[in-house]
Amino acid sequence: MKFDIPATQNPIDRQSIVGQPRDRVDGPLKVTGGARYAYEQHDVVPNQAYGYVLGATIAKGRIASMDLKAARASAGVLAVVTAKEAGKLGKGKRNTAKLLGGPEIAHYHQAVALVVAETFEQARAAASLIRVEYAQTKGAFDLEAAKGRAIKPTGEDSSPADTQVGDFAGAFATAPVALDQTYTTPDHSHAMMEPPATLAAWDGDKLTLWTSNQMIDWGVGDLAQTLRIPKANIRLVSPFIGGGFGGKLFLRADAVLAGLGARAAKRPVKIALQRPLMFNNTTHRPATIQRIRIGADRDGRITAIGHESWSGDLPDGGPELAVQQTRLLYAGANRMTAMRLAVLDLPEGNAMRAPGEAPGLMALEIAMDEMAEKLGMDPIAFRALNDTQVDPEKPKRPFSMRRLNECFKIGAERFGWDRRLARPGQSRDGRWLVGIGVAAAFRNNLVMKSAARVRLDAHGTVTVETDMTDIGTGSYTIIAQTAAEMLGVGLDKVVVRLGDSRFPVSAGSGGQWGANSSTAGVYAACVKLRETVAQKLGINSAEAVFANGEVRAGNRSMPLASAAESGPVVGEDTIEYGDLDETHQQSTFGAHFVEVGVDVATAETRIRRMLAVCSAGRILNPKTARSQVIGAMTMGVGAALMEELAVDTRRGFFVNHDLAGYEVPVHADIPHQEVIFLEETDPMSSPMKAKGVGELGICGVGAAVANAIYNATGVRVRNYPITLDKLL
Ligand code: MOS
Repeated sequence: MKFDIPATQNPIDRQSIVGQPRDRVDGPLKVTGGARYAYEQHDVVPNQAYGYVLGATIAKGRIASMDLKAARASAGVLAVVTAKEAGKLGKGKRNTAKLLGGPEIAHYHQAVALVVAETFEQARAAASLIRVEYAQTKGAFDLEAAKGRAIKPTGEDSSPADTQVGDFAGAFATAPVALDQTYTTPDHSHAMMEPPATLAAWDGDKLTLWTSNQMIDWGVGDLAQTLRIPKANIRLVSPFIGGGFGGKLFLRADAVLAGLGARAAKRPVKIALQRPLMFNNTTHRPATIQRIRIGADRDGRITAIGHESWSGDLPDGGPELAVQQTRLLYAGANRMTAMRLAVLDLPEGNAMRAPGEAPGLMALEIAMDEMAEKLGMDPIAFRALNDTQVDPEKPKRPFSMRRLNECFKIGAERFGWDRRLARPGQSRDGRWLVGIGVAAAFRNNLVMKSAARVRLDAHGTVTVETDMTDIGTGSYTIIAQTAAEMLGVGLDKVVVRLGDSRFPVSAGSGGQWGANSSTAGVYAACVKLRETVAQKLGINSAEAVFANGEVRAGNRSMPLASAAESGPVVGEDTIEYGDLDETHQQSTFGAHFVEVGVDVATAETRIRRMLAVCSAGRILNPKTARSQVIGAMTMGVGAALMEELAVDTRRGFFVNHDLAGYEVPVHADIPHQEVIFLEETDPMSSPMKAKGVGELGICGVGAAVANAIYNATGVRVRNYPITLDKLL
């Protein structure tokens, strides 16, 4: 199905099941341990052996020598795999060859060996016997120091490095009120609960991987290229994922090494990247330095807005797209944005929840708060005045829907914004200085091609198959809701099977496109199935009404299942998107409100309450969507107050590489969180008229916290995280 016109009336609009706050259909499996994660696939193949990954202990250089003798002779060892044993690996689209390093070492804790043994403990013990001599070379590890060498990135990324509209320099120089500030965000780790993990088994030249991967088809493609085998010989199975946040968008070392280890040991091999290895072995959100300049007239109208961002990555990497939202969020006739990329020999930087906007808004939305203060304006009034209903860089391109100001208005009422004291440091509750802050949330809504297959059997059971993944987000549930709504059956009649490369290729879970795109693919398959059902029942599909387990047309009514009496009926289709992007900008919007208390003596900051108001199209399931948003808000608090990969700028690695040193907040740290979704449908997003919220929820949170802290204390911190030492 090609979708390039705004969606008209369709069965989803009934919203008898879609749009309802249904419980997770996979909930019971999750809480009873019935959901098998990659490392728990004990029954799928016999004779499983264990792999242990050894990481490089230098950041850059070469392996001079490697002594594997003691490891090979160690108890229980079945195989040791290094780059030498593995032979030449292919370079997948995302340079997956470097997932096994040697002799060249690209970054600290890059995998240099895999030990396979009968037990995990034996593999770990043997790995400790491997002796590696390195010839170290000098690397660059300090973004601030490398900033001067940063260049305009030229990668294949779709986002241009620079944009310019009007005369930014001239307008900024003559603006009556102006701000020029620099903000920094540190490196962040996904730190998902389930580490990357894989069980690999060969059957002749066919390889099956039970793994934890957000994007099944990308994974199959990259693995085929890396191992130099046909895509058709690989099966990836990833039915349950214990969090990803972008860290599982791409193939990681566990998958490649499990495949290689299983080949070498002639046994199925399972690997989970051990927690202390994960932080430097896998990807992270790169640190940024962001300079923001805003000029306005005395009434608060922005006349000039400029945003430059510097970030670093390995030689083949790309920039953090931290200026993305500034291209779209506020009006202003004269504009410039620029991204510069420095080569850093730290581990690979890559996508983490709302890449671009999340760190970008951490800077921009403090700048907006500072600017409002300079203008003597209320921060919400300043933002509202500079709202735009069109892409400010391309004014002929309107937003498909944009209700940012309503988010602020509704949120202000609900949160009690009028009680905020404009002058900081004036509100006190016992030993706590109390402040409230606000920030805009903004994240683009991408639409992606997505396919599904739907089968109806003689019992009236509907089975949906698609390689879509559920990373804890609720994909199973909204897909079941979609099929149930389309076919007029209860949720108990729908079986959803996800995360298997044998199923039709979906949008996958990334960039908050999963919910809208994957359900739209299921919608398309259901349309096909409805046509076939109507045909079998001898009725006109245009008049057929699917409801209550029956199909009605005129005054005829038949059980849906009767269409499958002589065998299952199958519908399969793909939703593909046309050129709407050319004519319209699709984004999601929100407003984050935060109240903090800052201890007047110790400067310890506590979140007291938070509210998010989101405008994100149809909310397919308000319960799972709310969970997405409060999880994202919590993660945003982490970015504001504690998360920081500490870089050892001499040796080139992230020092705090476990969950003892890399602190993340939990829900118990935040006593009160509320989420409001604006009632809306965006007919340009897909037949589902939905958008994403999983990334929107984190966007802006950090700045809202920073602005609340400023309101509480009068201390403006521009370098995240806002730890207490920066407030004293
Ligand atoms: Mo996301 S950072 O595309 O999982």
